[in-house]
Amino acid sequence: MTKPIILTGDRATGPLHIGHYAGSLRNRLKLQDSHEQFLLLADSQALTDNAHDPGKVRRSVVEIALDYLAVGIDPQKSTICVQSHLPALAELSMLYLNYVTMARLERNPTIKDEIRTRGFGHDVPAGFLCYPAAQAADITAFKATLVPVGADQAPLVEQTNEIVRRINDVAGKAILPEAQALIPPVGRLPGIDGKAKMSKSGGNAITLSAEPDAISAAVRAMYTDPNHLRVEDPGKVEGNVVFTYLDAFDKDRATLEDLKAQYRHGGLGDMKIKRRLEDILQALIAPIRARRAEFAGDRAHVLDILRQGTATARERTEATKREVVEGLGLFQL
Ligand code: TRP
Repeated sequence: MTKPIILTGDRATGPLHIGHYAGSLRNRLKLQDSHEQFLLLADSQALTDNAHDPGKVRRSVVEIALDYLAVGIDPQKSTICVQSHLPALAELSMLYLNYVTMARLERNPTIKDEIRTRGFGHDVPAGFLCYPAAQAADITAFKATLVPVGADQAPLVEQTNEIVRRINDVAGKAILPEAQALIPPVGRLPGIDGKAKMSKSGGNAITLSAEPDAISAAVRAMYTDPNHLRVEDPGKVEGNVVFTYLDAFDKDRATLEDLKAQYRHGGLGDMKIKRRLEDILQALIAPIRARRAEFAGDRAHVLDILRQGTATARERTEATKREVVEGLGLFQL
């Protein structure tokens, strides 16, 4: 029986952090046995908002590949590939732009939100505004039916399906399948400062390659409840980053619920909960850091994995492009 196909990826803008791990990385680890999984190192998409820093984008490709391998993505089971080296994705992107309107792109909630947070205003790069069409190309070129992503990406999958329906409609047959977003139960992790988004550039992330000292410092600086001044004061659990992270990573749910009750009631200090979180994060990241260092020491091997994965992906995406060209009845020489 053929396995259902997964395509997901990460913008190549820096190493991955524990927010990625709590979100879609954990899902991908689980799914790589039951699904045919493709992981896209999205360097072309990264340029849509990082055109001023191509060096960062180039370096991030291998950094993220190292993160994948370090957490246990197995290249025998999952295909890791590089977006910019798959020409069919660029070609399908150009084609799909004709099946979407500017108004629809501007209305996409993800894009609207990102334009605001990046402060683009009216000076949004055209490539950025149009990246939903490129992401539709990514997803459909692999004929993926499942897309594990954070909740913020759901509108992109929705827009992909609109393009799919238009193309299938014009072709008069179902060339491309619709896809479904797979959203992790844990919402997006906030930064250690309590800000909505954890990001390397924001300086509020704990990366998967963080050294023990950096992990300690991050936990020490972590935002809790500013009104919880003395141990005996009642404290707030909601919006308290330490508890949000414990929710994501603490496997001992019963003890965690007890601690929350104690904290709310008063009598539990920030030091105690921070120590618990630090132990959990150190234990989570230590083996990842070790495996990452091992792979980083053999860069040629990592590049080989990317070369092979990209070759496999190239065949797949070229085949889909041909089907689309034929299905639409476009000129062929
Ligand atoms: N937009 C995704 C991110 O911000 C990366 C990405 C690119 C992606 N192409 C994709 C995700 C296709 C899912 C499917 O990380």
